[in-house]
Amino acid sequence: MSNTKISIENLYKIFGKNPQSVLPMVQEGMPKQELLEEHGHVLGLKDINIDIPDRAVTVIMGLSGSGKSTLIRHINRLIEPTAGRMIVDGDDVLSMTKKELINFRRYKLSMVFQKFGLHVHRTVAGNVAYGLTMQGMSLKKAKAQSHKWLERVGLAGFEGHFPSQLSGGMQQRVGLARALATDADILLMDEAFSALDPLIRTDMQDVLLDLQTELHKTIVFITHDLDEALRIGDKIAVLRDGAVIQQGDPQDIIMHPADDYIFDFVKDINRGRVLQVKTIMDVGVAVDGPDIPAEVVLEEALQIAAGSATRAANVVNRDNQVVGSINLDQIVAGLARPADGAEKESMYR
Ligand SMILES: Nc1ncnc2c1ncn2[C@@H]1O[C@H](COP(=O)(O)OP(=O)(O)OP(=O)(O)O)[C@@H](O)[C@H]1O
Ligand SMILES: [Mg+2]
Repeated sequence: MSNTKISIENLYKIFGKNPQSVLPMVQEGMPKQELLEEHGHVLGLKDINIDIPDRAVTVIMGLSGSGKSTLIRHINRLIEPTAGRMIVDGDDVLSMTKKELINFRRYKLSMVFQKFGLHVHRTVAGNVAYGLTMQGMSLKKAKAQSHKWLERVGLAGFEGHFPSQLSGGMQQRVGLARALATDADILLMDEAFSALDPLIRTDMQDVLLDLQTELHKTIVFITHDLDEALRIGDKIAVLRDGAVIQQGDPQDIIMHPADDYIFDFVKDINRGRVLQVKTIMDVGVAVDGPDIPAEVVLEEALQIAAGSATRAANVVNRDNQVVGSINLDQIVAGLARPADGAEKESMYR
């Protein structure tokens, strides 16, 4: 696993007149509802601990109001926490001076917003160049550089257009090009694709994944949508009422949801397209049969195992070493949607 890029430690955020006065009660476990009704404060975040890995996509998921935006805004300190620490590349963001914070925001991170956030009076090239001019580059040079990024997101030729002349999907491509142009290591994306039509949304996910294989940014991506989370996330953290309910490997979350809240998120996903053979294989056992790469999803594995005389296959890693095996019965069982009754609890972590 890669190194930790962003470390969020014991982070609390309480909104209201005197957050410090109610912090001890929250730390003792007072529920969000009680804090609001009895003490007039809103619990935003509660004891958040997340290590965000370098060069990977970490998805923050949760229902509306669960604290996703509040959390991501702590990373660039648009919001001050009530308690806790935020460490980026070993630096304590909360102890930065004003000047250090300005540089941190200018060079270290970029944001992509749900509503695109483009300057309507600037051209496409002007929008992408903006962050570079803030870094001190001349406008001429910045516009030349922005061309490269516009090309990368499929918008070459649109440099002189204004945002209002573009579709939503195109505007968000500009948003992405702008975020990439400054060369920041960290990309913060709050529901960046949620305003787009489903097909355009999938396109944008492809654009992002494609860029990521090359650029290896540290991406913090917020979404409501589990399919999107599974498609792009190397790691997923799920929030409810300001607390992390579960975090880790997406495959593991599907196989072992922590509770009913997570179960409700994962129960309807297309397991054949998401679960990988490595997740359900028998570890270390070799069989007589064809080889399947460990990351192949069950839907494809089904075809391979069904075509094998033994109805089984070996699972191999990237070096083509056998790491386990899988048979047709296991694959079929893996495809089945988990029961909604009492037996579902047996899978909980
Ligand atoms: N400035 C504020 N003052 C008071 N309460 C706030 C403030 N900002 C957020 N909250 C509260 O904090 C909680 C978390 O809000 P947040 O916007 O982070 O949720 P979210 O998960 O991003 O939701 P959505 O999916 O709707 O964007 C909510 O209860 C919200 O009402
Ligand atoms: Mg939000």
